[in-house]
Amino acid sequence: MKILVTGAAGFIGSNLCAALLSQGHTVCGIDNLSQSGLRNLKPYLAHSQFNFVEEDVRSFEAMKKMSQGASVLVHLAAFKIPRYGNSLDTLTINVQGTESVLQAALSDKPRVVLASTSDVYGKNPNIPFSESSDLYLGESNVRRWAYAISKVMDEHYGLAYHQEFGIPVSILRFFGGYGPGQNTTWWGGPQSVFINAALLNQPMEIHGDGLQTRSFTYIDDNVDGIIRAMFSDKAVGEIFNLGNTKEITIRDLAQLVWKLAGKGEPKLKFISYQSFGKYEDVRRRVPDIQKARELLGFDPKVDLVEGLKKTIEWQSSLTDSVEVTP
Ligand SMILES: NC(=O)c1ccc[n+]([C@@H]2O[C@H](COP(=O)([O-])OP(=O)(O)OC[C@H]3O[C@@H](n4cnc5c(N)ncnc54)[C@H](O)[C@@H]3O)[C@@H](O)[C@H]2O)c1
Repeated sequence: MKILVTGAAGFIGSNLCAALLSQGHTVCGIDNLSQSGLRNLKPYLAHSQFNFVEEDVRSFEAMKKMSQGASVLVHLAAFKIPRYGNSLDTLTINVQGTESVLQAALSDKPRVVLASTSDVYGKNPNIPFSESSDLYLGESNVRRWAYAISKVMDEHYGLAYHQEFGIPVSILRFFGGYGPGQNTTWWGGPQSVFINAALLNQPMEIHGDGLQTRSFTYIDDNVDGIIRAMFSDKAVGEIFNLGNTKEITIRDLAQLVWKLAGKGEPKLKFISYQSFGKYEDVRRRVPDIQKARELLGFDPKVDLVEGLKKTIEWQSSLTDSVEVTP
């Protein structure tokens, strides 16, 4: 099968392309390299079944051309974490990019898989989050909500194209993915930054009191879930949580990373949320994955210690592991 992957040079995209190529598929990867280089794709650039195109996903012409003959479009390209970026990029790239992908699917109606996020559950205090849970987003002048809003918009667009035009769309809400290939700055997530700090024997920066929790999902489990959704008829028109259900505080995560990668006593440095301007964090984030288990057979296997060990090994092998992007 020919499969188109947007955001192919990024963390999830590059790992997905590798898995699809190993299964014998032909893969066309699109990325504008705005938040990644070609590092993750280097091993595949010469692969006879891989075609990489440097393009902006908002270009409808490019999407239309590259998606011709594709059986599945997996849309991962996005701008995230407006804590560090601007909300305008988040809104335009995410919404226009998704619209461009859906428009490109109009004539041939391939399967379309859209990446969403656990952030859409926002401040909902009722844990765990199931796909039917309410989405509690904060006020509009806290710009971090632009990311969740843009993804909610993407979800609605996807479902509307499914209902109006019969495009077989599936939506995946990822929870705290981590592993080799991830951006090693805050763009990648706290684990990336903690690993760098532990390797360099520097303080690990913790935002707020560190008692906020997250659920971290190893990349192999994410990729397995995506591929299951791509090829299952039961996924059409559906939203799925894809994540590991084990919950950990950010403070405990930092200590665990230090234990696995650092020397001596962990060094923690607490940074107040006020230093980001007007900001709100999410206190707890845990997925209910019963739906993905039942309909897709999704069953995350890699536990946090095992996954972190692999990530630390990869991150310590990088010559540019202390890059500062974006
Ligand atoms: N990694 C996670 O745990 C996680 C959690 C929730 C949601 N997601 C979603 O999953 C998707 C993939 O996430 P990721 O962690 O691999 O992110 P990533 O930043 O590593 O990869 C995204 C890629 O998209 C590319 N890109 C950005 N704007 C583009 C544009 N306009 N045109 C073409 N390419 C563009 C970037 O250069 C980058 O390579 C995103 O949609 C993200 O919102 C990921």
